[in-house]
Amino acid sequence: MKRTTIAGFAVASYAIAAAAGAYAETASDIPHLRNQGTATQLIVDGKPFLALAGELGNNTASSLENVQPIWQRLVDGNLNCVLAAVSWAQVEPEEGRFEFTLVDGLIEQARSNHLKLVFLWFGSWKNGLSSYAPYWVKKDFQRFPRIRIQGDKRIELLSTFGDASRDADAHAFRALMRHIREVDGQLHTVLMMQVENEVGVLRDSRDRSAVANKAFAGPVPKALMDYLQKHRDTLAPELREVWAANGFKTAGTWEEVFGPGKPDSVEMPIQTNSPPMSKDEHETGWRKLHWPVDEIFMAWNYARYVDRVTAAGKSEYDIPMYVNGWLQQPEMAWPGTYPSGGPLPQVHDIWRAGAPAIDILAPDLYLEYFDQVCERFTRNGNPLFIPETGRGAANALVAFGKYNAIGYSPFFIEMGVGADTELAATYSLIARMEPVIAAHQGKDTITALRLNEGDAPAQFKLGNYTLTAHYVGRHRIPIAPPPAQPPPPVQIGVPAQPAALAQAAARPPDGGPTPMQAAAIVVASGPDEFYLGGGGIRFEFAANTPGPATVGLGIVQEGKFVDGKWTIIRQLGGDDIGQGEILGLRPNTILRVLLYRYE
Ligand code: DGJ
Repeated sequence: MKRTTIAGFAVASYAIAAAAGAYAETASDIPHLRNQGTATQLIVDGKPFLALAGELGNNTASSLENVQPIWQRLVDGNLNCVLAAVSWAQVEPEEGRFEFTLVDGLIEQARSNHLKLVFLWFGSWKNGLSSYAPYWVKKDFQRFPRIRIQGDKRIELLSTFGDASRDADAHAFRALMRHIREVDGQLHTVLMMQVENEVGVLRDSRDRSAVANKAFAGPVPKALMDYLQKHRDTLAPELREVWAANGFKTAGTWEEVFGPGKPDSVEMPIQTNSPPMSKDEHETGWRKLHWPVDEIFMAWNYARYVDRVTAAGKSEYDIPMYVNGWLQQPEMAWPGTYPSGGPLPQVHDIWRAGAPAIDILAPDLYLEYFDQVCERFTRNGNPLFIPETGRGAANALVAFGKYNAIGYSPFFIEMGVGADTELAATYSLIARMEPVIAAHQGKDTITALRLNEGDAPAQFKLGNYTLTAHYVGRHRIPIAPPPAQPPPPVQIGVPAQPAALAQAAARPPDGGPTPMQAAAIVVASGPDEFYLGGGGIRFEFAANTPGPATVGLGIVQEGKFVDGKWTIIRQLGGDDIGQGEILGLRPNTILRVLLYRYE
């Protein structure tokens, strides 16, 4: 896939000779990625597209009849994009006979609801295992070999060492991409493809079949060694540490270069998934490596296989393609309790070396460590796309505003999606703010934050000001600033508070019992101009450039962007901005603020 900067010159390109001239569309017409500062944006019909998405349940889109009643609710939930599975089993029910009626129907139905699509190719692997491979593949275990796990056990997991499996998968994926190009190469309903789903070995840390053991006992491929040496200074620290601990060898067997693998004596906790670990290990287990060589070895072999499948698809239609990872986590801390070899941060470099056709390494982000995972998944310029996550709408603001996300997509979206949801309100807010977010992603003029009730105020510099953000939640902002001296503690039954504070204290929460997560995207759009979108936060500004020290709220407008233009809903003064001294962001609002300074 061609990647361009905003200035239009190529910074990285994945060239597929076969693709040249294969289709009328040029690389910049079809959905593609473009760099802007430190961000990578998804460009659709010439403009950045922020995917306000949701992923359907695994089999929801396996018939048109089943998915038909869902579209309207997705539209009501303010989605602009849907992630839907397309399985190898349904696309190629008999070897060489392809069936695209369902794909065509999904594209048509999405179009008629003005929604974009990302298709998930459930090919050789889905959650590690191979349940979506066609029946003719499943039956032919000699031609399409399975892995072996400890004790020479078989599981339904196609081996990365099966060249025939890889070629058959690539053949089918190529046919699918040819078809998508034919039916959608002009209208661009399908924006991206996910290749496979959460690949990796389960129930053991690596494949222990004879062919895998032979490769494991052999040398690390030169291509990988060369890549590691070339990128030695920028490797993920976890990987670098493993390599350093074994002396930064530039050649040798896998265990010579990356240390010992899991010994046979260690049994995988197959029933519970939860490895026997101390409390401390458990708490850090979501990012501590165990027998890294096994995971590195598998990552290389998955990457090589997936690269062939991806490149075959791209040779027909070169839109962005990504792989998604089932993350390591406290309950699943050993490779094999989570899929070993998937595109996890500790092996991102291995994936980059082995699968240059893949554009994005994506997290299925259900962990509570949302920001830390985003940090790890944006290292070395990896674009952030979150194909699966929970319902926490505040995280969407953080993803787009702080981590330059391309898209955000709660899983099993059809459960509970609709107009009256927090997600719908957040997606609507992002859509109303989209031009200013898109214009600033990748620059040092945008950030986002999330605050929980009881959190200390957050302070950060942006543009010419230092902002302090206080949690307010759904409470009303007082209509006048609090007095300089805090009042004496309130005594029960003695109504002695100043009027404004009494009003603030009496503020009834207008939502349910759960305190809202306060969150906002903040953009410094000019020397003294800010856009703030989100809710539940009170902001203070302090100047961090020379000049008068006192900062005033010059103009405050509540509004939204319509067709790229800022449109004012209300001009705010008086009570709504604490008589000019308090800037509160009420839930689901966007403010434009012009500051001034005086003495
Ligand atoms: C992650 C997988 O990628 C999804 O397809 C689905 O199986 C969910 N887990 C279920 O929680």
